[in-house]
Amino acid sequence: MGWLEGQVALVTGGTGGIGSAVVRRYVAEGAKVGVMARDAAQLAKLKDELGDAIVTVQGDVVQYKDNQRALAATLEAFGRLDTFVGNAAVFDYFTRLDRIAPEDLESSFQRLFAVNVQGYLLGARCCIDALRETRGSMIFTLSNSAFYAGGGGILYVTAKHALVGMIRQLAYELAPDIRVNGVAPGATNTPMKSLEGLNKKSVPLNQIPGFEEGAAQAMPLKRIAEPEDHTGHYVLLASRKDSGLTTANIIHSDGGWEIRSAGARSHSKT
Ligand SMILES: NC(=O)c1ccc[n+]([C@@H]2O[C@H](COP(=O)([O-])OP(=O)(O)OC[C@H]3O[C@@H](n4cnc5c(N)ncnc54)[C@H](O)[C@@H]3O)[C@@H](O)[C@H]2O)c1
Repeated sequence: MGWLEGQVALVTGGTGGIGSAVVRRYVAEGAKVGVMARDAAQLAKLKDELGDAIVTVQGDVVQYKDNQRALAATLEAFGRLDTFVGNAAVFDYFTRLDRIAPEDLESSFQRLFAVNVQGYLLGARCCIDALRETRGSMIFTLSNSAFYAGGGGILYVTAKHALVGMIRQLAYELAPDIRVNGVAPGATNTPMKSLEGLNKKSVPLNQIPGFEEGAAQAMPLKRIAEPEDHTGHYVLLASRKDSGLTTANIIHSDGGWEIRSAGARSHSKT
């Protein structure tokens, strides 16, 4: 028996590095999964791989009606919803405020926040009734950038910090019916894309020269994550049996980022 036998989840950004690893792990644990993402070809590929265990919906998390379609398809295919995973996001390629032209700032802010913050809220709003019926839970992908500076630029770090407040307030508003938690990965080997047009130098995250070595060196545990490294946390938080009293909580999965200076000291002694 898997940990999530008989459960149904909906995952946004479910074709990406971390999202697709969560979808595969949920299926391996016995769950059925609705997968929403933007890229139809990647959705078709995942469908070929996982078959009847998933239903796929192409859409944009910025649109409420697309979130609704994803929920409706999931309910139609699998009859219930136990867990909503808000995960789709875009990066900002470490772009500093003084490198964003003043005339571009308002639209860049709105476009990044529309995906990374509003997208989570729209998905959450859509799923409230279905999750109340099952006394289910919401899980949001945050980042070490939800707690610390330097892991992104001004827009990404500000948006991820905002989500800490969103999780706390949602957990407060939705208790006792729905638990609301987060997972905060650190640097992970994925092709995470940045907001279009924000930074001319932008490439997918894991194609930045030296990204893997640089990030690994900065971490006390001395390696960057593969997407699969985080998936157990999503399973635990989705499990009523094993985290039924956990809400308003965010699990850090970042190689010990908080103690990085201590890690660097002990490393330098060896
Ligand atoms: N890769 C890292 O180092 C890292 C570190 C910490 C946190 N994260 C977080 O992990 C999550 C997943 O990122 P990833 O690294 O897997 O990136 P990714 O680019 O591989 O995946 C992103 C997914 O989101 C989808 N998406 C993007 N914009 C969308 C939109 N408007 N509507 C619908 N779907 C959309 C993409 O289709 C894709 O499926 C994000 O919340 C990201 O902030 C990533």
